[in-house]
Amino acid sequence: MIGGRPQLDSLLRVTTSCASNGGLKYRRAWHTREGSRIMTIFQPIDRDLREGVADTLTVGIVGLGYVGLPTALAFFRSEIRVVGLDVSEERLRTIRVGQPDLLPSDHDRLRDARESDTFVLTSDPRDLASCDLVIVCVPTPIDEFEVPDLRALRGACESLVKIARPGQSIVLTSTSYVGSTRDLLVAPLEKRGFTPGQDIFVAFSPERIDPANTKFGQEDVPRVIGGTTPACTAKISGYLSLICGGMHEVSSIEAAEMTKLLENTFRAVNISLANEFAEAANVLGIDPIEVVQAAATKPFGFMPFYPGPGVGGHCIPCDPHYLLWQLRKVQMHPSVTTAAMQGISTRPARIVERAAEVLAARGKSISGAKVLLAGVAYKPDVADVRESPALRIIEGLVHRGADVAIYDTHVEGLELEGEYYITEREIPHPESYDLVLVACLHSTMDERVFTKAQLVLDATYQLPAAPNRLVP
Ligand SMILES: NC(=O)c1ccc[n+]([C@@H]2O[C@H](COP(=O)([O-])OP(=O)(O)OC[C@H]3O[C@@H](n4cnc5c(N)ncnc54)[C@H](O)[C@@H]3O)[C@@H](O)[C@H]2O)c1
Repeated sequence: MIGGRPQLDSLLRVTTSCASNGGLKYRRAWHTREGSRIMTIFQPIDRDLREGVADTLTVGIVGLGYVGLPTALAFFRSEIRVVGLDVSEERLRTIRVGQPDLLPSDHDRLRDARESDTFVLTSDPRDLASCDLVIVCVPTPIDEFEVPDLRALRGACESLVKIARPGQSIVLTSTSYVGSTRDLLVAPLEKRGFTPGQDIFVAFSPERIDPANTKFGQEDVPRVIGGTTPACTAKISGYLSLICGGMHEVSSIEAAEMTKLLENTFRAVNISLANEFAEAANVLGIDPIEVVQAAATKPFGFMPFYPGPGVGGHCIPCDPHYLLWQLRKVQMHPSVTTAAMQGISTRPARIVERAAEVLAARGKSISGAKVLLAGVAYKPDVADVRESPALRIIEGLVHRGADVAIYDTHVEGLELEGEYYITEREIPHPESYDLVLVACLHSTMDERVFTKAQLVLDATYQLPAAPNRLVP
C-alpha cells in the first residue's frame, strides 16, 4: 500500500459511491487482489475538499463532446456547479433538447441537469471567468495528410489565457503532442504575468473515457495527472478525484502527455498485429479467434486484441500521429509505430480487396454487385462515425462500382464524397444482396440479416455461426 491506497498493479477496480444518509457521504471502494483474495477497502474520498468547496466550486468544461459532456455531468452529479462551453451552437442545441449520443445513465443525469440552474450551457468564453477549475476537452484530430490539426486546442487555450484570473486551475485533457500544455497554456500565461503553482494552476490529465463501455465508467477508472509544479498537481488532482477512480500523479506535464500517447500507440500496435495474424491464420486455414482466445488463457504476458475492419474514433487512428509528427522534427521515425499506423490506415482497402475476392469466387464482379454494408459506426452501440473504417470501405466499394446500401441501427445517415446515404434501420430481404459486409455489430441489429444472407464477409470476426460466412 502507498499512502493508504492499494498499489496500482494490484488494483482491480475502483468505484465511487455517494449516499445520502443524514448528510452526503462520498466513499471510494478499492477492489484489489491480495494473493488469491480480492479485497475491498472503503475510503472517504477527499471529503474535506468536497465538503469544503462543493458549495462554492464552479467547474468549466470547454468542448462538450464525447469526453466533455460526460465529464460535465459527472461534476453535476457530485453537486458541483458546471459551466459547459462549446463553440458549436448545433451541439449546444442537441444537448439542450436532450439528444446527444450518451450512455443511458448519462441521459438520466442530463435530464436532471437540463432542469437545474447549476448546469449552465454557453458559447461565450467569458462565462468561464467565474470557474475555479476549467477542463479543456476539445478535439485534436489529424488532417488528410495525417498531420495534427491543433486549431481547436489552440483556439480554446488562447481564449482561456485571455480570461484567466488569479487562483484559477486549468487542466488539458485533449490528447496532444508532448509539450502542448507548456506551449499553449503555461508559456502564454507566464507571459501574461502569472506564476504557475502560485497564482495559477495548470496540469495535463489525459482522458480515458470509453464511450458506450458499461463495464468501466469514467468514475471507475484512475487517471494520470502531471502538473506544472507539485502545487498544480496536488490542487487539480484533488478536484479531478471527485469524479474519477483515483489519481496517479507523475512528475511532469510532459510525462502525463506521453502516457496517453503510449496507451493509444500500444493499442494501435496490437490491433495492427491482430489484423496481421488474422490474415495469416486465414491463409493457413486456421480460425484466428480460436488462436487469440487460446493465447489469452496465459495469465501473464499476453493481452487479447481482436482483428477487425480497421479502427475508428477520435483516438487510435489519430493519436500516434501526434508522436510521429513531433518526432519527425528530430529526424526520428519509430519503425514499429509507423508500421502499425500503416497497417491501420490500409486495413479498409484490404477489406474491399477481400470483398472483391469473395464475390469473384462466386462468379460475381464487384462492379455492379449489390453490397449491404452492416455497421457504419466505428464501434458497437454508438452513433459516432469519426474515422470509422466503414467510411473508407464504402468509398472503396463505390469506387469499384458496387451498389452500396448501409444498415445501421444507431447512425441515421451520412455524407461521403458529396453523396448522402440514408442508413436502413431494417433489412426485410437480406438475401437480395450479393454480399453483406459486416463492419460493426450493434447489439440492436437483427441477426436474421446475417443468417439469411447469401454471402457474408464478416470483418468483425464475431459471427462464427452465420451460414455462408467468410472472414477477411
Ligand atoms: N472520444 C473518445 O473516446 C476519447 C477518449 C479519450 C480521449 N479523447 C480525447 O478527448 C478530446 C476530445 O474528444 P471528443 O471525442 O470529446 O471530441 P468531440 O469532437 O466529441 O467534441 C469536442 C467538442 O468540442 C467543441 N469545440 C471545438 N473547438 C472548441 C473551442 N475552441 N471551444 C469550445 N468548444 C470547442 C466541438 O464543437 C465539440 O462539440 C480529444 O483530444 C480526444 O483525442 C477522446
